Amino acid sequence: MIIRNQGDVTSDALAAMERTADPRVREILVSLIKHLHAFVRDVRLTEDEFRQATAVLNQMGKLSTDTHNESVLMAGSLGVSSLVCLLNNGGNGNTETSQSLLGPFWRLNSPRVANGGTIVRSDTPGDPLLVTARVVDMAGKPVAGAEVDIWHASPIGLYENQDPEQADMNLRGKFTTDQDGRFWFATVKMIGYPIPTDGVVGRLLQAQNRHPYRPAHLHALIVKEGFKVLISQVYDPKDPHIDTDPQFGVTKALLGDYIRHEEPHPSDPNIRPPWYSLDYTYVMEPGEMKVPAPPIA
Ligand SMILES: [Fe+2]
Repeated sequence: MIIRNQGDVTSDALAAMERTADPRVREILVSLIKHLHAFVRDVRLTEDEFRQATAVLNQMGKLSTDTHNESVLMAGSLGVSSLVCLLNNGGNGNTETSQSLLGPFWRLNSPRVANGGTIVRSDTPGDPLLVTARVVDMAGKPVAGAEVDIWHASPIGLYENQDPEQADMNLRGKFTTDQDGRFWFATVKMIGYPIPTDGVVGRLLQAQNRHPYRPAHLHALIVKEGFKVLISQVYDPKDPHIDTDPQFGVTKALLGDYIRHEEPHPSDPNIRPPWYSLDYTYVMEPGEMKVPAPPIA
């Protein structure tokens, strides 16, 4: 079509997308053109701004490596990752869900730990944290024999892969739930940490005067045949950044009951106060067991 005016561009581009053979890809591309063109009209995008936008996209690509993904960080910082998660879980967005974002630091082959064991593998100064957890289905019945990967940042806010002071696989472990769907372990209390701000995401946060700190959280990835893989983060409600997460990941269902204890531990004299406890119930939804590719090696 020979374009006569700006309206023709949209209808011609839409007609081109309509020729996509795959129906789902066609649906996505047609809607993308509708919204993208409406967006350009809505903000009356200038030529200079358009050139800046393409430069930002190029820079996100250049900043992304095997160990850093600026595009995922950007999607999180715009709330898109959280929206996709909430729309696809909890009965398609109708109920609460234990499902959350994977984050950039899940690793395969974390060492197997028996229930009651510790995931502290090298000297990691911090307050003890005792975690007791349960995995249930949507009817509240225990999910026995589920494989649970656990990982979290240290008491200074670094994952072991970011910190030469920590042993390989420190604060990571793989558990199996017992007949009651339970797993439990000892670790140290993590704190929140900043997302990387040296790229375009940093410029975005700065533009809104947003801090980069994610509230303290415990990661889990839970696998059991017959269930959708449960990827979760359980947050500490007392974290100073609990209601200003730059990745918009904190939901009510993901608030953990992290309790600080000032008294000695009732049965273990080696656990000196203050110590913390966390008890949390993970809810798995039925579905296809699709394990994601690990973001790092
Ligand atoms: Fe994390």
